[in-house]
Amino acid sequence: MTGFDQVLRDYLVDGAGEGTSAVEAGWSDVRFAPHVLRDVTKVDLEADLLGTSVRAPFAIAPTSLQRAVHPEGDLAMARACAAEGVLLVVSSNTGTPFAGISATGVAWWLQVYLPADRALAIPLLERAVAAGAGAVVLTVDTPVVGSKRGPSVWDSVDPSLVRVNFDPGYDDLPGSQKATDLGPDDIGWLAARTGLPVVVKGVLRDDDARRAVDAGVSAVWVSNHGGRQLDRALRTAHALPAVAREVGGAVPVYVDGGVRCGLDVLAAVALGADAAFLGRQPILALEQGEAGVASYLRRLRDETTEAFRLAGCSDVADTRDVAVVLPPKAL
Ligand SMILES: Cc1cc2nc3c(=O)[nH]c(=O)nc-3n(C[C@H](O)[C@H](O)[C@H](O)COP(=O)(O)O)c2cc1C
Repeated sequence: MTGFDQVLRDYLVDGAGEGTSAVEAGWSDVRFAPHVLRDVTKVDLEADLLGTSVRAPFAIAPTSLQRAVHPEGDLAMARACAAEGVLLVVSSNTGTPFAGISATGVAWWLQVYLPADRALAIPLLERAVAAGAGAVVLTVDTPVVGSKRGPSVWDSVDPSLVRVNFDPGYDDLPGSQKATDLGPDDIGWLAARTGLPVVVKGVLRDDDARRAVDAGVSAVWVSNHGGRQLDRALRTAHALPAVAREVGGAVPVYVDGGVRCGLDVLAAVALGADAAFLGRQPILALEQGEAGVASYLRRLRDETTEAFRLAGCSDVADTRDVAVVLPPKAL
């Protein structure tokens, strides 16, 4: 437990409020009805993420503070992803210039929170487009930052390790606070400003998924922000099936929250996700730098291959009928 301090470690791991949603993603509520008498000699995990071919149906969710975790921070994360054929979503709070991340050769998308004055987001968006972002992920579950226990790492982190892609002085500008009035129009605005596909991250309800699809999103991302926003929000494993049903294949569906092993990845795709995204695990693996992340990604791919084989599935399409979600235990 050396490397970085306890305040930072707690910030990486903790959830909002009492931490209920942070520890209850619900993947262990999923049971499998495996197929047998099927040829699983060859398992093909490949997936397509908005035109980027990836080696397995998982990718990296946006997390800030990577340079506080390891001196090479986001660059080490990006290099590991590039080497392992994994797509990276870069937090708008990153402490590394977008162009540097892009230069590693990784396939990457930009995550954004929109400010009250939307026009203030334009320089950041233009920098990401110029650097080669493949999509914009709009996080919609954060009108305010959910309160967490303990001292805030943001009060002690070296400011040069975060938010380097914003104009200097951005946070002091009137209108730079997070928007509390996000709506479907923001999706079209972002798509028009960037010319990129827009993914909406933080959906837990089928009616919101429908509104996002009707507004023209390119993918819907089921998330409760790893339990870091509204505590006691639904477990994502429980929210996913209704969203996938509502979206009905019109656009891809992604999911995150507590995905920790190959069985969780199998459960996610079996319940209708096109890919699972990973937050805390890769940033904790980053403590050991690029090699730590790369070895974590290889282990997860191996575990996923084993889970597919044991479930009698040789690709993602095969998994769609193998999962059953048990009702959550009565509280
Ligand atoms: C340290 C940390 C920083 C995060 N920063 C962001 C962020 O900047 N933008 C965002 O949309 N989500 C952010 N998230 C949420 C993740 O993208 C993701 O939704 C969540 O971590 C998934 O759950 P998991 O950590 O259980 O895998 C962050 C999560 C963590 C743990």
